[in-house]
Amino acid sequence: MLTSIINLTHEPLSSFHFYSYRLYRAIPALGGGIVRVMSQTGKIGYALCDQLVHWGSEMQYRSLGSSGIKASVVAVGAWAIGGWPWGGTNEQDAIDAIRTGLDTGCNFIDTAPAYGLGLSEEIVGRAIAGRRRDVVIATKCGLVWHTNKGQLAFEESGRSVYRYLGPESIRYEVDQSLKRLGTDYIDLYQTHWQDPTKPIEDTMGTLMDLKSQGKIKAIGVSNASVAQIEEYQDYGPVDTDQELYSMLDRQIEQSNISYCKEKDISVLAYSPLAMGLLTGKIGPDREFPPDDLRYNNPRFSVENRRKVSDMLDEFKSIAVKHNITLAQLVIAWTIAQPGVTHALVGARNRNQAIENTAAGNVTLTQEEISVISNSIRRYTASRTPVI
Ligand SMILES: NC(=O)c1ccc[n+]([C@@H]2O[C@H](COP(=O)([O-])OP(=O)(O)OC[C@H]3O[C@@H](n4cnc5c(N)ncnc54)[C@H](OP(=O)(O)O)[C@@H]3O)[C@@H](O)[C@H]2O)c1
Repeated sequence: MLTSIINLTHEPLSSFHFYSYRLYRAIPALGGGIVRVMSQTGKIGYALCDQLVHWGSEMQYRSLGSSGIKASVVAVGAWAIGGWPWGGTNEQDAIDAIRTGLDTGCNFIDTAPAYGLGLSEEIVGRAIAGRRRDVVIATKCGLVWHTNKGQLAFEESGRSVYRYLGPESIRYEVDQSLKRLGTDYIDLYQTHWQDPTKPIEDTMGTLMDLKSQGKIKAIGVSNASVAQIEEYQDYGPVDTDQELYSMLDRQIEQSNISYCKEKDISVLAYSPLAMGLLTGKIGPDREFPPDDLRYNNPRFSVENRRKVSDMLDEFKSIAVKHNITLAQLVIAWTIAQPGVTHALVGARNRNQAIENTAAGNVTLTQEEISVISNSIRRYTASRTPVI
């Protein structure tokens, strides 16, 4: 919980360390928790115990397409908290992560039925109980385990999961999600993966009908090509496109991002930390359990971790200048990319949530963004590229 607000209005604004020291002394007396601090000049900082996370202005919010819904530029991504295939989950930590995100300015949560076969949505529902109106919930349809129609996608926890967007299935799914989330409407409803067995016309027709019933407020797509988004739009407005995008995954810049920018469709970047690799905290000794998708993943080889670490080292001076961590710098760079409107950042505990959310306050200069982008280009285009 957000326990206290301290206004340091009588303090001279000097250095980050000065305030860290002040907080270090003040927080034990306040009983810990999250503290929101305002400096003399109106700068906002959030602190968890004795750690000042970031000074900056308030969280930035951007519209989801033309829906009129304002969502924080950093969302709490709720995939890993579903447990599969992330080596399991700790439910209390997950609830703390979501509540911490909400307490520190983030109002946007992205989940899906497929994340832990309903578990992620249930955890989100529990975490937001009593504060539904303050939250923008994004969830999805189209990865199902109640039927064997469509295309087999993967096996999860002993169940076969199919890509299926048949109208009767979407109607079933939305009611299941509403129950798990403990709400009577979903702010943003997205097709998770595209189903080649069903016409987009029928899918979008069903989504538009759910919207007219008030069960969903805005419609989004995910893992879609530009041609597919264009087809969706023949039958109604698409507000968001959720795609893989990070410093190491920039393939959609000339396709989805440029198209969506032109059409006023928000681009929600998923896995912006490359599943944790870009935090700079996954050192050579970190081992992943066999049921974690990073186990034996070439991107997480020790050699690649070293290369990523070398690349991130080049950004350290910029991070130091802003008093931010490398993870925050990576998130800030992501939401500064033209056309990328929001970053969906996974958080498994309150420390990660407060750190990630605070990145929504950071504004990098154009020069800093160019320095970082040039460096990424060098590393990803070298003879032995970072992957
Ligand atoms: N539409 C889709 O198909 C799709 C696909 C993927 C993701 N998504 C969405 O995008 C969200 C984010 O993507 P993602 O979870 O794949 O990857 P991510 O945000 O790039 O990385 C998340 C992981 O990095 C680690 N981490 C996060 N913040 C950290 C911090 N401050 N310090 C240290 N470690 C930190 C955590 O894992 P550890 O603590 O275990 O290291 C966390 O689970 C998902 O939750 C989901 O909502 C959507």
